[in-house]
Amino acid sequence: MSVPRVTLKLATSLDARIALGSGESRWITSAESREQVHRLRAAHGAVLTGAGTVAADDPVLTARPGGVAAETQPVRVILDSRLRTAASAKTFEAGPVLVYVSDPDPQRAAALAEAGAEIVTVPAGAAGRPDLNAVLADLGGRGIGSVMIEAGAVLAASVIEADAVDRIEWFRAPMLIGGDGLPVIAPLGLETLDGAPRYSRVEVRACGPDLWESYQRAGV
Ligand SMILES: NC(=O)c1ccc[n+]([C@@H]2O[C@H](COP(=O)([O-])OP(=O)(O)OC[C@H]3O[C@@H](n4cnc5c(N)ncnc54)[C@H](OP(=O)(O)O)[C@@H]3O)[C@@H](O)[C@H]2O)c1
Repeated sequence: MSVPRVTLKLATSLDARIALGSGESRWITSAESREQVHRLRAAHGAVLTGAGTVAADDPVLTARPGGVAAETQPVRVILDSRLRTAASAKTFEAGPVLVYVSDPDPQRAAALAEAGAEIVTVPAGAAGRPDLNAVLADLGGRGIGSVMIEAGAVLAASVIEADAVDRIEWFRAPMLIGGDGLPVIAPLGLETLDGAPRYSRVEVRACGPDLWESYQRAGV
């Protein structure tokens, strides 16, 4: 069993914001970038997000390049410590979803299972949330070779802190939001620059009006 390769997808303004302070976020990046994200989803074995993104955006999480469903769909995955995801979430309408939790409430678990979730219990990591390495190991055990993380700042920070990111696909729109906007990555609590996670640039291309930058873990 091998651990899947992890891609972190980020879609931001030039100054690395994912939304205004009010939460308004649709749309910062262009239709061309969003189309490319659908192609990236189709190229991964799973698409993983956090309960925060499901609550805020209610994404379907399927791959729809060109607006048409891809022939092979990635497995859809939500990390949700408190099983706060609504049973009415749109992603359940598209078929089974893996929902990772550490200490599931039986009633919430039953409601989500009824909606189409497979509730997977893994050991707790930081802050009592599902341990990311345990989640990735479980996905690897299911034969999933690659995972694209499309999450908000909290899960993006967690996965970076866990040193689990192999590649970053960053879509950056030519727009400035300012420091009152929401940052793409929550605090990492770094004390020295030597401790900052580093990545090597692999490619930079235009994606409509946006920039699409690809990075891989430094030293690979
Ligand atoms: N621009 C982009 O690329 C992009 C992509 C996706 C989302 N977004 C935006 O991000 C915002 C939502 O951000 P967010 O930070 O609240 O959402 P998030 O990062 O998607 O989800 C965070 C939540 O996931 C749960 N979680 C479970 N296990 C976790 C773990 N091991 N590590 C971290 N979190 C874990 C936690 O909730 P519990 O403690 O309740 O489990 C946590 O609060 C929305 O405005 C959305 O539009 C932007």
